[in-house]
Amino acid sequence: MPDKTVLENILGVAIQREEAAAALYRDTAEQVETGPVQVLLKELEQQEVGHKRRLQQLLDKGTFRRISAVQRKQVEDLKLTDYLVEEPLEPDTDLQGVLIVAGKREKASHDLYNGLAQVTDEPEVNELFRFLANEELGHKHRIETMYEELFLQDN
Ligand SMILES: [Fe+2]
Ligand SMILES: [Fe+2]
Repeated sequence: MPDKTVLENILGVAIQREEAAAALYRDTAEQVETGPVQVLLKELEQQEVGHKRRLQQLLDKGTFRRISAVQRKQVEDLKLTDYLVEEPLEPDTDLQGVLIVAGKREKASHDLYNGLAQVTDEPEVNELFRFLANEELGHKHRIETMYEELFLQDN
């Protein structure tokens, strides 16, 4: 069994991050009352589960078993591994704190997929990463909107 390539390693961590994101939204949804916030959190959870599945398929297909020297250099130049360090979350953080961390993690996920899209030129794979980057950016916006509505308005 050959060593994993750098892109396979990144994909492996990305899968764990998707899992952690799904779990965070699921746990938080359980703690809030029934209503629009809970609906949104459940929707985010479902999308993260979908992301995980699509990344796993990519990994299973062996898409990144071989990578070129150019790709390896691009991964280094774009400092893609920097995005793998997850924003920490203390246990017992309240909803406000969770949303702050979640927003930062969504931003990092967006940047990671955006970088991966630059490193991969196979159309299907490239399209997937651009789709993921776009969805994570959408998550970030939705979380920020939720945060504003819940915590930054006077009513
Ligand atoms: Fe995701
Ligand atoms: Fe996300």
